[in-house]
Amino acid sequence: MKFSYEIKLICRDAIMEYSRQIKVLGSLLFGLLSEALGLNPEYLESIDCAKGHSILCHYYPPCPQPELTLGTTKHSDPGFLTILLQDHIGGLQVLWQNQWINVPPVHAALVVNIGDMLQLISNDKLKSVEHRVVANHRGPRVSVACFFTLDNYPSQRIYGPIKELLSQDNPPLYRDTSLQDFNAYYYNKGLGGNSALYHFLLQR
Ligand code: OGA
Ligand code: NI
Repeated sequence: MKFSYEIKLICRDAIMEYSRQIKVLGSLLFGLLSEALGLNPEYLESIDCAKGHSILCHYYPPCPQPELTLGTTKHSDPGFLTILLQDHIGGLQVLWQNQWINVPPVHAALVVNIGDMLQLISNDKLKSVEHRVVANHRGPRVSVACFFTLDNYPSQRIYGPIKELLSQDNPPLYRDTSLQDFNAYYYNKGLGGNSALYHFLLQR
């Protein structure tokens, strides 16, 4: 009993420390992404992109017939940014030019994914990549995904293509939305199928 209590305590402390470090890394990345967009380095943080994050640990058991199923079906991540830690088993793939490309695990490396909301506010300058996880004989596989979004801070803020990025040659592609509305649509639609972003495209 005492032993399992101690393990739980150690795990909780490790996750809290990981969460603190991820927040620092997230701020750094949003600074670099702001500059990459030609904005001032504080821009994305100033609109709360780095304000909230949630951590999800995935456990994929070994699969006797991996060709019959998937670990996680095709999707892009809904928030602004995802920082993923995967173990040595592998299985993550990204869709690039209609082909599934393996993202081989690199020891101690993190995978950073642009999320749908960052694609929306950057007016397609940054693209949220579609990805999936294939099942594997080997395993279990464990991954830790950290999503930057505002789930834990219900926010009234409205997000749309960033005005500073728009011009006559680069008109807004998406309509404004709150994170709640975007997430509600995303989760109602479910994984697989078309990106939730289509629903927010402006008609033209
Ligand atoms: C996710 C995801 C990939 C993985 O949580 O959105 O894509 O490797 N996870 O578990
Ligand atoms: Ni994902």
